[in-house]
Amino acid sequence: MIQLDTTTSNHLLTIDRKLDSGLHGEISIPGDKSISHRALMLGALASGTTTIRGLLLGEDPRSTAKCFQAMGAEISELNSDLVTVQGIGLGNLQEPLDILDAGNSGTTLRLMLGVLASHEQRFFAVTGDKSLRSRPMLRVVKPLREMGAEIWGREQGGKAPLAISGRNLQPIHYQSPIASAQVKSCILLAGLMIDGETIVAEPERSRDHSERMLSAFGAKIKVDGNTVYLQGRSQLQGQEVTVPGDISSAAYWLVAGAIVPDSDLLILNVGINPTRTGILEVLLEMGADITLENPREVTGEPVADLRVRSSQLKACAIGGAIIPRLIDEIPILAVAASLAEGTTVIRDAAELRVKESDRITVTAKCLNQMGANITELPDGMEIRGGCSLSGAEVDSCDDHRIAMSMAIAALVAKGKTIISHAECAAISYPSFIPTLQKLF
Ligand code: S3P
Repeated sequence: MIQLDTTTSNHLLTIDRKLDSGLHGEISIPGDKSISHRALMLGALASGTTTIRGLLLGEDPRSTAKCFQAMGAEISELNSDLVTVQGIGLGNLQEPLDILDAGNSGTTLRLMLGVLASHEQRFFAVTGDKSLRSRPMLRVVKPLREMGAEIWGREQGGKAPLAISGRNLQPIHYQSPIASAQVKSCILLAGLMIDGETIVAEPERSRDHSERMLSAFGAKIKVDGNTVYLQGRSQLQGQEVTVPGDISSAAYWLVAGAIVPDSDLLILNVGINPTRTGILEVLLEMGADITLENPREVTGEPVADLRVRSSQLKACAIGGAIIPRLIDEIPILAVAASLAEGTTVIRDAAELRVKESDRITVTAKCLNQMGANITELPDGMEIRGGCSLSGAEVDSCDDHRIAMSMAIAALVAKGKTIISHAECAAISYPSFIPTLQKLF
């Protein structure tokens, strides 16, 4: 039985599954969230029309679209497979009449800050929901201030709401202390509007969708190891973008197919950009039976269909350079590790504490309520595997990745699991619950 109670604003998802049958079928996943944000933003900043196929029609890209619409970009309604953006050209965003609201989306807020800070003689105020207002912004505010940006906010500009007075910025060579695509992309977007070369280096390579898409739109950009070089003031030209499916959304089905006995799932059109495939490498190391079919390239991004069949998983050690390549998949990996043989240790993932929720605490709490054996570490988790999960009432803390990970855990749990605030899945995966219902 799977049931969604929508009678109150807290949508309760109840899952109670007979454990004697596998999951079978083909699954189409929604467009990549990171690429969707970037396609909307670059489309708005470019000259001419950008067409976007396969855009994620989730809450986060909707926040990006609304913010850029409020600054003059014409973006068609986000309700079909084809979205068009009439760009207004670099440096031409209008001063918005009201506060820009990034909702739950860190990517919207952090990337947009780079764009706003470099729009001279315009004033912007930005905010977000309760979760986003608690997330750290100094990681982007600090380098932007080094470029000459004027930004004010709570905690010395460390927390939204923030106010920005656009300035003529100077390029910098920024050595980021953290591997973060949001930090890197924010600085690159600021660098677009100014003379000279902006350089961003990071300790490990984070996702490179900005670099790929900036290059496709005509920016002069070069990548050397973990360092990106961007020449300012190159004009961007609108493009035809096709967004591949989001590997972070595919991850739920990869784990579901691996842990539910007798399963065989084919997940179609999954983006397999090497800066995102840490989840595949770890699951394969854990003994998952995953094969890549029909590899191809779509608008500069590698794509394949992924087949997963159930298998007995074993524990592994996860840490170091792979972490930025699977950072959003750690809650669902914790589900896999709870069922694997042996103890999985995840380290170097302190970033999880400042995501939409503290994903170390919330993942450990929810899975332990279901019978897992997870100890929190300051920068990760120790997960003793081989657990039999049982249904429980768990609080997603309004975090989309936690809600969906617990729904997958519920597929192998004995008895009824009730997940609170399941509506938050729509942040990154609006069709998650209907897809789950189809597999029952
Ligand atoms: C994202 C980068 C990652 C990721 C987030 C999306 C992006 O965040 O966790 O979901 O689109 O640039 P960080 O850059 O903060 O690691």
